[in-house]
Amino acid sequence: MIIEQTKYEKLFSTPVFRYHFPEHADLDRALLDEGAVMRASSEGVTKSNRGGWHSEGNLFDRQTPCIKVLRTLAEEAVENATRKVGAKSDLASLKLRLFAWMNANPAGGYNAPHTHPGSHWSGVYYVSQPDVEEGNSGMIEFLDPRTDLPNWRILKAPAFKLKKKIRPVPGDMILFPSYLVHWVHPNETDEERVTIAFNAKFRKRK
Ligand SMILES: [Fe+2]
Repeated sequence: MIIEQTKYEKLFSTPVFRYHFPEHADLDRALLDEGAVMRASSEGVTKSNRGGWHSEGNLFDRQTPCIKVLRTLAEEAVENATRKVGAKSDLASLKLRLFAWMNANPAGGYNAPHTHPGSHWSGVYYVSQPDVEEGNSGMIEFLDPRTDLPNWRILKAPAFKLKKKIRPVPGDMILFPSYLVHWVHPNETDEERVTIAFNAKFRKRK
């Protein structure tokens, strides 16, 4: 008996994008300075962060040049990803709203598992990331949103891996659908880990 395969579809994929800003060194320095200014005047808020500092309000409301540059990079990445997933909507007819905040994780600081409900894309830009070769320090990890995956573990098929870890470097930007559960492993170094996270949501223009 021979059964013929007539189709092989990869249904319901979860795209995760990684970008890099080549000229990041000057930008990162300016963003760290901007962070120092903000931290001098705000205690920050507690969200998914455990330990560390999380800025209050929308970082992209600030008009400093470095924040404007980062905003442009975030918009570029969001547009690129939206096109790559084959969005058929006319993006020019939609309004894109971005909301950003800064995270500073000192030694031991981490982010508990969470999603960013209500947005399309969520992203993280890496301003400073302590240099570690091994272990999980500072790594971001994503959980496959499908259920019953543990059952598949025995087959070791990459398409059904339960989790995916990424170790970004400064200047990297990661972009993922906001529904994706993710967390950040504790910073095991004495150096601070600084990132800027954002949510991107498309709306109909009124
Ligand atoms: Fe997050």
